[in-house]
Amino acid sequence: MKDILTAPFVQEVCKITGNMYRLGWDERNGGNLSCLLDEKEVGAYLDTSQTLRTFPMAFDAGALAGKIFIVTGTGKYFRNIPDNPAENLGIIRVAADGRSVGLLWGYEGGGAPTSELPAHFRSHIVRLEKDPGHRVVMHCHATNVVAMTFIHPLDERAFTRTLWQMCTECLVVFPDGVGVLPWMLCGNDEIGVATAEKMREYRLVVWGQHGIFGAGKNIDEAFGLIETVEKAAEIYLKICRSPILQSITDEELQILAKAFQVTPKEGFLTAK
Ligand code: 13P
Ligand code: ZN
Repeated sequence: MKDILTAPFVQEVCKITGNMYRLGWDERNGGNLSCLLDEKEVGAYLDTSQTLRTFPMAFDAGALAGKIFIVTGTGKYFRNIPDNPAENLGIIRVAADGRSVGLLWGYEGGGAPTSELPAHFRSHIVRLEKDPGHRVVMHCHATNVVAMTFIHPLDERAFTRTLWQMCTECLVVFPDGVGVLPWMLCGNDEIGVATAEKMREYRLVVWGQHGIFGAGKNIDEAFGLIETVEKAAEIYLKICRSPILQSITDEELQILAKAFQVTPKEGFLTAK
């Protein structure tokens, strides 16, 4: 068996969570991440038939039965993950009946998976239906996105349009737009259901006065979506109190979409 700490999937999670901490998006235990792993790849590092502990699931995750994920621990600080992955991360497998997960590695010292596991798993189920290549769900407290949710209407069309208008790249990166939820109690199955419902249409879901979720085929894609929204939100906050002399018009956004061969979310741009 190879040393699990040298596994690319562990090292990649260490690297991204350290970076997200330094960006200021994951203060204290803020944020969580889950990534679907390939069983064969994990098998080179772990005996996947050995379950160390089990955790009950708040809902029926049967659609993910047998699947293996690397998941950040609840209450754990992103800041500490790179130096101590075995305590702050876990590798878990969903039980055949979808009612529990078994620990294969990690959460040393008595840890457990993130409290947002229902939002992650429910989102994985929905995104895998849309795209069999989907792998990653990421949640963080991106500063400018959270700030924007205090002063901008939480209407999805309006919120998405504002973001698209802030940087030329936005429409190209997230043509499907951004789903938005009002403030809700976090860390339970109810917000998990609401998040996954949005994930049917969007790979990005903003939680009002809390943070953002991003989904993608890999860590780069999920992170890239979030950082692009965060950049647009930062520009919005810099200019929102200033007189606007020029912006990107809907006509220009249509030209952009055509040039980059993306399809903007239907009804979000005014027709030509
Ligand atoms: P966990 O520490 O349980 O992952 O929760 C952090 C968080 O951001 C809740 O939304
Ligand atoms: Zn959070």
